[in-house]
Amino acid sequence: MAEFQTHEHDVLVIGAGGAGLRAAIEAAAGGVSVGLVCKSLLGKAHTVMAEGGLAAALANVDERDSWKVHFADTMRGGQYLNNPRMAELHAQEAPGCVHELESWGALFDRTRDGRILQRNFGGHAYPRLAHVGDRTGLEMIRTLQDHGIHQGIDVHMECTVVELLKDGSRVVGALAYDRERGRFRIFRAKAIVLATGGIGRAFKITSNSWEYTGDGQSLAYHAGADLMDMEFIQFHPTGMVWPPSVRGILVTEGVRGEGGVLKNSLGERFMFNDIPEPYRKSTSDTPEEGWRYVTGDKNARRPPELLTRDHVARCIRREVREGRGSPHGGVYLDIAWIKERIANAPDHIRKKLPSMYHQFMQLANIDITAEPMEVGPTTHYTMGGVRVNGDTQMSTVPGLFAAGEVAAGLHGANRLGGNSLSDLLVFGKRAGAHAAQYAKAHGSGAIDIHAVDTAAQKALAPLDRTGGESPYQIQQDLQEMMQAKVGIVRQESELQEALVELDKLKARAAKASAPGNREYNPGWHTALDLTCLLTVSEISARAALERKESRGAHTRDDFPDKVAEWGKFNLVFRRGTDGGMVVERTPLVPLRDELKQVIEEHK
Ligand code: FUM
Repeated sequence: MAEFQTHEHDVLVIGAGGAGLRAAIEAAAGGVSVGLVCKSLLGKAHTVMAEGGLAAALANVDERDSWKVHFADTMRGGQYLNNPRMAELHAQEAPGCVHELESWGALFDRTRDGRILQRNFGGHAYPRLAHVGDRTGLEMIRTLQDHGIHQGIDVHMECTVVELLKDGSRVVGALAYDRERGRFRIFRAKAIVLATGGIGRAFKITSNSWEYTGDGQSLAYHAGADLMDMEFIQFHPTGMVWPPSVRGILVTEGVRGEGGVLKNSLGERFMFNDIPEPYRKSTSDTPEEGWRYVTGDKNARRPPELLTRDHVARCIRREVREGRGSPHGGVYLDIAWIKERIANAPDHIRKKLPSMYHQFMQLANIDITAEPMEVGPTTHYTMGGVRVNGDTQMSTVPGLFAAGEVAAGLHGANRLGGNSLSDLLVFGKRAGAHAAQYAKAHGSGAIDIHAVDTAAQKALAPLDRTGGESPYQIQQDLQEMMQAKVGIVRQESELQEALVELDKLKARAAKASAPGNREYNPGWHTALDLTCLLTVSEISARAALERKESRGAHTRDDFPDKVAEWGKFNLVFRRGTDGGMVVERTPLVPLRDELKQVIEEHK
């Protein structure tokens, strides 16, 4: 038998980004004991990569905004595959969550009359993103962390969960190891909230850091939960492309929200060449109008750089493929041009986009107040994830909740920028509250120590094996393959090839070895991450193959149109009783009549 250290909490939250912190705070407020597991150090989370702001219909900059318009924008952005109940709750509750965050000490940029300032972002009808420069996610994490540490939450840092433990159908705990010593820990819990973020590290070019290996999605799937919408992976249009060591690092959409324009190597603002019909009326065909819009003229038309991310990413890909890209395989993003319009442009840029200024200065030796940036799409976000109840955030496994990026439903086929930060506040809070309620209503379940021991032995296997391949090589090959075959634009033959490659990668991973001992052994950690990466990659590839249409962030070269019939289903994956993968077309959560009317009114 392996040795285990045991911890007991009423609610265990796995993941300590914005959703996890918010869930832990709410569960603690519900009067239960809470444990918070972080894969790395507290405060290091992908939440900070939502730089440009937090979407909430505060109507501080444009009084025409309301929860209804936000709801309609979110549904349109998600191409109507969203769970409408989640989109409704999100739009209604986001403003309150912003005020609550402010009451806990969060700082925001201000309007001249002292209200929270809001900026434009893609797909949002009005300036809606509450922000602090381009460090909004960071400010949110700082605030939640400062508030959270006073709530009596037990924090377990540098700890990775490898298996959820069940008693019958219900989840009752988790097996984890601490990264520092490599020792196993059993967490007993009456309810568990997954808040582990996305799957970005399945791809070569990503804004996600090393932690984002699909742990929550994979743990949930192996515990029998449903995963949904896994074909929808968001490629943020603007990541750094040069130098190679920083490729994929996010360049906030806030740059475009502040007036940044996209140009190809011919100097053309190519986004004007491809304005889709539904947006044509609301989109300017002159740069003059676009600038007026950015500076708050309510009658001016939106610049095409602020179309939804899926569309902008595809346009950039096309420019590069057709030979009109920048020297390092991207396009140009220019904010320096605004010096033609405002007197103090360099100061203005440094004030509104301080992180971008420093990022480009320090990493690429580019002064963004004077010259354009080179940018290209980067894997940023997963719309799909654990299927949850829209009100409670409980998954299809009793006692297992999910919130934030790891959960599916709110964003449908494509997420609007800024909706992630509001998502994690609204649904982190709900998940924490309902997990606490569940814990109070249910006693502790029994932990099956033999199941724990089997899981532990499985986790130790890469250390015991000798002569196997390096897990790093397998991870790198997986990332290259996913980028090439399950990327921005997909097609049947490549997706079939991806599935064949995934089988080979699984066989290689089963033989991988991680020499050394259990202390500080990142090779071993990578071998364990591979289980999750391979699970979520396979589900995403299968889902992409199954959906024979193009919609939102899922584009098929061989099925370039949106198909009405496919607009009636979400694709759901679950582990069958024989261990095989089951896929189902599940009818959408019905849209109530009054919400249908809201969408009609704001078309
Ligand atoms: O571009 C950004 O600042 C990212 C925001 C988001 O993903 O919500």
